[in-house]
Amino acid sequence: MLNPSDFIQEAVEEIRNTVGDEKAIIALSGGVDSSVASVLAGKAIGDNLTAVFVDHGLLREGEAEYVKKTFSERLNFRYIDASDEFLGELEGVTDPEEKRKIIGRVFIEVFERVAEEIGARYLVQGTIAPDWIESEGKIKSHHNVALPHGLVLEIVEPIRELYKDEVREIGLELGLPREMIQRQPFPGPGLAVRIVGEITREKIGICRRANAIVEEEVLESGLHESLWQYFAVLTDTMVTGVKGDVRDFGYLVVIRMVESLDAMTASVPELPWELVKRISKRITSEIPEVTHVALSVSDKPPSTIEFA
Ligand code: XMP
Repeated sequence: MLNPSDFIQEAVEEIRNTVGDEKAIIALSGGVDSSVASVLAGKAIGDNLTAVFVDHGLLREGEAEYVKKTFSERLNFRYIDASDEFLGELEGVTDPEEKRKIIGRVFIEVFERVAEEIGARYLVQGTIAPDWIESEGKIKSHHNVALPHGLVLEIVEPIRELYKDEVREIGLELGLPREMIQRQPFPGPGLAVRIVGEITREKIGICRRANAIVEEEVLESGLHESLWQYFAVLTDTMVTGVKGDVRDFGYLVVIRMVESLDAMTASVPELPWELVKRISKRITSEIPEVTHVALSVSDKPPSTIEFA
C-alpha cells in the first residue's frame, strides 16, 4: 500500500472522478471499514454523499449515540430509527437463519427508500480485500447492484485492495478516534445473533446490558488487546436461582471471549478468574432477570463464535 496520506489523496481523486456531481449513498455501521469508506467518500464529494446509519433496534448500549456523535459533524449523516419495523418483522421468529434473512431484507428495504429519496446513483461500500478474496473473486470490481424495488446503483469500493491493518492506518490518518478503529467486530445483525430463541424487547434489554458489562470489565482489565471478541449471550434456558431468601426463576447468560486472527477459527484463552467472577457477579446483581451466568469454553470449530 502507498503511505496513508498518498493513499487518501489517490482514493479521494478516484471517487471524485467516478461520482462527479451525482449523489452517492453509503450504509455506515460504525465499524472500521464502513467508517473509513464513508469519511474518504465524504472528503471526495462532500454533501453529495449521504451516510445512512440504520438502527435496527439490536445495537449495543450507547452505539447509536456514539455513531451520531462521531459522524454527524464530519459527514452528511442520516440516522434512521427503523427498530419498530425490524422488531415487528422478527416477532415470533426463532430460527437463527430466518432472523438473519429478515434483518438483511428489511435493511435493504429501508436503505433503498433513502437512496430513492436522495436520488442516489452510486453506492459506496467498505469492501476490503478479504471480503472478495474469500468469495474467490466472485465479486467483480466494476459492478452494479439492483435493489428489490428496481433501483440500480453503481458500486464504488475505495478500500477494496486493503487489509484490515491498512484500513486502520487510513482511519487514524483520517482522524477517526483510536478507540473506534480498534473496536472488536460487531456483527451486522447485532444482538440478534446473541439472543437464542425469539427476540423480544425485554430480551434485547437484558442482552444489551449484559454485553455492556462484559465490554466494560474487559476494557478495564486491558485484556481486550489480546481478544478478538468478548460478549454475552442470552440463552432461552430458564434456570432456578435464589435471590434473598426466595427461589427465583430467570435467564441463563453465557459469557464468551475468544482469540482469533480472522474469525475462521477461534480459541478460548485462559482467562483471569477474578475477571470472570466479577462479570458474573455484576450480571446477576445488576440484571434482575438473570439467575445464572456460565462461561463458554468451546473453540471454533466445532462451535461458532456467535450463538444464534
Ligand atoms: P461465527 O459465529 O460464524 O462468526 O463463528 C464469525 C465472525 O462473524 C461475525 N458474524 C457475523 N457478522 N453478519 C455479520 O456481519 C452475521 O450474520 C454474522 N454472524 C457472525 C461474528 O461476530 C464473528 O466475528
